[in-house]
Amino acid sequence: MAPYARLTGWGMWVPERVMTNQELEAMVDTSDAWIRRRTGIGERRIAGSQDTAVTMGVAAGRRALEVAALSPQDLDLIIVATVTSERIFPACASQLQHALGASRAAAFDVNAACSGFIYALVTAYQFVLSGTCRRVLVVGTEVYSRILNWQDRSTCVLFGDGAGAVVVEAGPPPTDALSFVLGSDGAGADLLYVPGLCGAAGPFNQDGHHYLTMVGAEVFKFAIAATVAATQQALAAAQLDISQVDILIPHQANYRIITAAARALEIPSERVFMNLERYGNTSAASIPMALCEAIDQGRLKKGDHLVLVGFGGGLSWGAVALHWAGGRN
Ligand code: ACO
Repeated sequence: MAPYARLTGWGMWVPERVMTNQELEAMVDTSDAWIRRRTGIGERRIAGSQDTAVTMGVAAGRRALEVAALSPQDLDLIIVATVTSERIFPACASQLQHALGASRAAAFDVNAACSGFIYALVTAYQFVLSGTCRRVLVVGTEVYSRILNWQDRSTCVLFGDGAGAVVVEAGPPPTDALSFVLGSDGAGADLLYVPGLCGAAGPFNQDGHHYLTMVGAEVFKFAIAATVAATQQALAAAQLDISQVDILIPHQANYRIITAAARALEIPSERVFMNLERYGNTSAASIPMALCEAIDQGRLKKGDHLVLVGFGGGLSWGAVALHWAGGRN
């Protein structure tokens, strides 16, 4: 008999340092009013010099394991979604595995930019549902502050640092995930990218790193369409109507993207979760961080239907519909 899978743990971690919009006013030609009106972002967290994708991911991962009542030794696999690891290799996941002490676990990274967590989550479910693994830790961890051009007002105001993690575990029926959607359109590669080690030699930001380049208006249009289409596909595959969705947890990029998508989907705003006002866009960390805060705020009850949906560089997108089982219990 095929195994069943469910999400049994969740955790997040953000750096202490808060950067407000007012601070950005002193760095580039922008204003708190513009950033709030055009994005909904009020502040973001910025990693300290000791914080890395690994250390932040470990902190979030430990919390997810605590909620799942598991030890690192119980893990069979660790999947990390990130594009901001200190090293191209070894994988961020391998470093995280060692730092956690998860010595039995295999480990690999997923690169799908802001869709990375959804790609990693879908992959984790496939490993558990196939019977290959029993316990998988999925981490989204990003330090975008290190890959921004802090002189470019059209990008530096949008992003922040943070990490979120979940545990996907084999368990009793039913499986909580009802459908999986993943998509890619590499034709949009030039709309949103960061050069790699073998890419162009510069330009570099103040820290000597390649930095993010984005055609904001094009990504904006794509983001709304992708959020709507991926959500609709996930619902159709799960045989659910939008009226049955108790909470939609979208990638936290811009409140205008989220509200436009919600309007097109005809889901009322009180059933759409947003926390981007306090964190900005944390890329692969944004959906697990939002999920954690939705749970902590009591927004999810056992038996609720939820949809996690993301989009990002690639261009890429993905969604997962779930029948919330309330964790391990
Ligand atoms: N402060 C003040 N003015 C600004 C700022 C700023 N921070 N940024 C841009 N402007 C100006 C522009 O220069 C422009 O001025 P102009 O009319 O004199 O040329 C004006 O504001 C309007 O610019 P637009 O780009 O049209 O502004 P818009 O309202 O579309 O908002 C934004 C720009 C917020 C970037 C929007 O396009 C957006 O959210 N795009 C999607 C971003 C996104 O989701 N990215 C993440 C993808 S996920 C991943 O994988 C990383």
